[in-house]
Amino acid sequence: MFSWFKSKKTLPAVEKPLYLEDFEDATDIYHYFTHLTGIHFEQKESITTPKLIRFAKGHGCISFGGLMDKLCVDASVREALINLLTVNETYFFREKGQLDFLVHHSKRVGKNLRILCAPGSTGEEAYSIAIVLAEGGFNLLAVEIVSIDINTEAISRASEGVYTARALHRLSQPLKDRYFVMEGNQYRIRDFIKRAVVFQSCNIFEAEFLELGSFDVLFSRNMLIYFDQPTVEKAVDQLTRLAKTEDSIFFFGHADLLITPAQLQDHFEDGIKFYTLKQ
Ligand SMILES: C[S@@+](CC[C@H](N)C(=O)[O-])C[C@H]1O[C@@H](n2cnc3c(N)ncnc32)[C@H](O)[C@@H]1O
Repeated sequence: MFSWFKSKKTLPAVEKPLYLEDFEDATDIYHYFTHLTGIHFEQKESITTPKLIRFAKGHGCISFGGLMDKLCVDASVREALINLLTVNETYFFREKGQLDFLVHHSKRVGKNLRILCAPGSTGEEAYSIAIVLAEGGFNLLAVEIVSIDINTEAISRASEGVYTARALHRLSQPLKDRYFVMEGNQYRIRDFIKRAVVFQSCNIFEAEFLELGSFDVLFSRNMLIYFDQPTVEKAVDQLTRLAKTEDSIFFFGHADLLITPAQLQDHFEDGIKFYTLKQ
């Protein structure tokens, strides 16, 4: 027994593993993500870092450094990271006053409209616009709504057009009946509404955004809140480049703009704030 103890003690020391897990500091990943999307994560890192560690391990990385290397060379990993970390919360008839104002405005200008939702997330905003215009008596064949988002999964879900009751909580039963078909306990948007909207994955900071053409009405709601002020200014600059005419109007989410951007003139009508290009 004594000799066993002795021999144990003389066994060679266990070799240190060549690669050690290192998920201490995600700063580079956050900076890179901000560089890609404009989104800042101040004060939310305690929530997102555990998600990032799972993401890194799921992609075969044992450190944030390894994940960073992968992100730099693999577009599909970049896309997956964006899909993981963007917040896609939305619902039908969000900030409905703006949608009613749009109907009123469209009747006033009396021409076929091209409308942009940037970002449109999973489609609820763009479909809401189509619904209020249909309710307002507009021929949807004369309306084109383009809805873009950086999150490719959100765009796939938008194109699918199937929603839970939660997304429709602001809609009356008659509206649900007119514009959706029940599938089990889910709601599928009807084809004539779907046809009015084009969905495309797109980053507002990339050149592809400027290739979307020009628009009479531009919605950019609840995205700028995730940007810092210089990035808000860059985003507004991109959006203004897509205005069709000086009469094109812009709607933002109520918390998106702390100050009126230099390129825009604010207006307040019927309790609704909207913007046009500054003359
Ligand atoms: C909270 S949702 C807002 C959706 C909808 N406009 C609304 O108000 O309900 C914010 C969306 O912005 C998108 N987003 C963030 N950065 C973006 C970027 N650089 N380009 C395009 N979309 C972006 C996210 O993917 C997310 O779906």
